[in-house]
Formats: sequence, structure tokens, C-alpha cells
Amino acid sequence: MTGERPADRRTTSFSDPRAVERYLEGPVRMVPGLVDMHRMAALLLAERVPDDGRVLVLGAGGGMELRAFAERHPGWRFDGVDPSAEMLALAGRTLGPLVSRTRLHQGMIAVAPEGPFDGATCLLTLHFLPRDERLRTLKEIRRRLKPGAPFVAVHHSFPQEPDTKARWLGRFAEFASGSGIPSDVAAGAAAGIGARLPALSPEEDETMLGQAGFTDVGLFYAALTFRGWVAYG
Ligand SMILES: C[S@@+](CC[C@H](N)C(=O)[O-])C[C@H]1O[C@@H](n2cnc3c(N)ncnc32)[C@H](O)[C@@H]1O
Repeated sequence: MTGERPADRRTTSFSDPRAVERYLEGPVRMVPGLVDMHRMAALLLAERVPDDGRVLVLGAGGGMELRAFAERHPGWRFDGVDPSAEMLALAGRTLGPLVSRTRLHQGMIAVAPEGPFDGATCLLTLHFLPRDERLRTLKEIRRRLKPGAPFVAVHHSFPQEPDTKARWLGRFAEFASGSGIPSDVAAGAAAGIGARLPALSPEEDETMLGQAGFTDVGLFYAALTFRGWVAYG
């Protein structure tokens, strides 16, 4: 593993060994259609990534999307970037022998190799980044892509008007508790997302992808509070 220690307090919960140990149980319960979302992300990448292509995975901690991509595409090689050493270690365990095709880098986008990459993803991560950092990060991802290469982004993105926002966060909590998360924990997670995550509206997210230089921005995934887009560098 290459990289540096993060100084960012937003990564704290991803550095708590007990929280990290349970991490893989969370997204599948809280993100509607997670497994199929990974399949769709792989499919969208594969439209343009060659059989021996090189893919950048930002926010690679846990390793779930890396494993989904590596299992489907035996010739792809990956660079996974994440500030949390603990989440990267979990990615290594999730990948098992597939880790041989992956280089893991500890840090933010600045530690990512220059590429150029045939494709990139950033799943369940950009909602943690404040607006300015998010735009800078998107520009840095795009700079590392070959011209026309696909980028897939999925994260919380929901209307920001207070009443509508509360309604969608309530639906998120309802889905999570229906997946077996205790309802007080699900409600607490929804409240935390509403209060602390610098989430944008879907319209703002699409605008920002354009501001970062991505073209042909297309929505491919909409699941309660989550949205996913494919765009091209
Ligand atoms: C909810 S997890 C998602 C992990 C994985 N992409 C998935 O879908 O399971 C968010 C990850 O983003 C990482 N992260 C936080 N800030 C980041 C940043 N600025 N750049 C890259 N990763 C970041 C965290 O350490 C954590 O591993």
C-alpha cells in the first residue's frame, strides 16, 4: 500500500476498527439495489474500458465494488484510493486473491497515480465532500482519464427543500429498518445524513459534473436518497 495519513476528521468513523469490521453489513441494507448497482457500474465501464483496461476507484475502502468489477473483468487492473488505512485493509480482505490486480493507495485523490485511466468510479463517497473539495476532486478524477473514458458516481443526492428532504430521509430510514437495521439506529442515521452530510440536490450534482468538465452526463440509478450517473472525461 502507498500513501499518507489523512488529517481529515470526516474519515474518523472509517478508522474505528469495530465500525470497519461491521462495514460490509451496512451498505447492502441501506442502499437499495446495491448489488445490481455494482453490476450496472461494471456494465457502464465495460462499454469503453478495454479487456486489459486500467480503472481508478476513488473511495475504494471495503473493496466491494473492486471485487464486483474484478470478478466480472479478469483482465482489468485497478488503483484503489481511500484515506482510511482500516478501510483499505478491509478492501484487501474482501478482494482475497483478486488483490493481485489492485494497487491500494492511502490518501485522497492527490495520491492517485496520474493514469491515464480507461475508466473511474466513486461510489458512496462524494456525499462526504464539501462543495469546493468535491469539485476539485471531480476535476482531478477527470484529469486522470483518457479522453472519452467513463466515470461512474453514486452517492446520496436528494432535494434540499426542508420538507421534501425530510420526506426522502424518512424513506431512507424506513428502507434500512425494513432490511433489519433497528429503527432507532436507522432514524439516527437519517438524522445524521440530514444534519451533517454536505449532500447536494440531483440538479446540483449534475451541474457540478459538468463544471468539472465531464460530458454526456446520464442518470442511470435512482434509489430513494441515492442517485448515480455515468459521465465521460
Ligand atoms: C461509505 S464508504 C464507501 C466505500 C465503497 N466505495 C463502497 O461503496 O462500499 C466511504 C469511503 O470514502 C472514504 N473517503 C472519505 N473521504 C474521502 C475522500 N476525500 N477521497 C476518497 N475517499 C474518501 C472513506 O474512508 C470510506 O472508505
